[in-house]
Amino acid sequence: MLRYQYLKFYSIFQIPELREEIGKLTNSKNETTVFDIGCGIPTFSFELRNLFGVKKIVGIDRIKTFIELLGFNKNPLFYNAETIHDCYRCHVRLLMNQSEITSLKGAEFIDSFENDVKLFLGESIEDFNLKRIDNIDIVLALNIFHFVKFDSARRRIKDLICKLEESGLLIIEVNHLDNSSFTNPVYTTKLDEGVYEHNKIKQRVYLYDDNRIENLINEIEALGIKRLFDPIKIINESENVNSVFFCGKKSVVLV
Ligand SMILES: C[S@@+](CC[C@H](N)C(=O)[O-])C[C@H]1O[C@@H](n2cnc3c(N)ncnc32)[C@H](O)[C@@H]1O
Repeated sequence: MLRYQYLKFYSIFQIPELREEIGKLTNSKNETTVFDIGCGIPTFSFELRNLFGVKKIVGIDRIKTFIELLGFNKNPLFYNAETIHDCYRCHVRLLMNQSEITSLKGAEFIDSFENDVKLFLGESIEDFNLKRIDNIDIVLALNIFHFVKFDSARRRIKDLICKLEESGLLIIEVNHLDNSSFTNPVYTTKLDEGVYEHNKIKQRVYLYDDNRIENLINEIEALGIKRLFDPIKIINESENVNSVFFCGKKSVVLV
């Protein structure tokens, strides 16, 4: 049986074990690359860059245009943004107001940003050719795999682990079956175990119960990923589990 930690509110970068490992990774390499899957406006990757010096951001999202991404994000911070560059500028400004990085020179970061970010829009992780990316030090897959059929998700996670550099980090958050925003019978229909479809927009989701999560984590670990801490169940106000957060480090090179 898996042992879990429980958190109501969290910022993934506040987890000490994760901070430490990202720090070690960025210190040990000239430049590190994060592959942000289902990135949206890649705010978590922005933070990896600003707080930890992760240099390159490669993102993928099935949304086709940047304007749609902005619409989907709805973050007031980006209201006047027209490009990814603008978003980054807004984000850095926000961070500059927070004590943690007041010592960093935001302007320098902004200037070099354009060459360091690549977004593949209108692409699905299900059939994305990973050869299009040179190397991956951090896989960031937050709240994305519930949009992908269970088998496809497992296959892609396996491919990603193979592609991940040695000592690279796998950071995943999957949505849980107890997350009632996806299973409310008023506006969704259950199609199969863990599979729900939104009645209006016909969006299907693939939700993970404890059993599926345990199997997924076992498979990930069998592929050479060593967990950094007990997986975290993110719970909502009603104490239901919304999602599960897992982080591991690639510790064995597979042949
Ligand atoms: C819930 S949002 C998460 C955004 C971001 N990762 C975060 O945690 O803030 C899910 C994102 O995944 C994208 N997405 C959904 N299915 C996808 C797929 N098959 N391939 C790539 N991106 C996908 C959506 O367009 C959306 O931007």
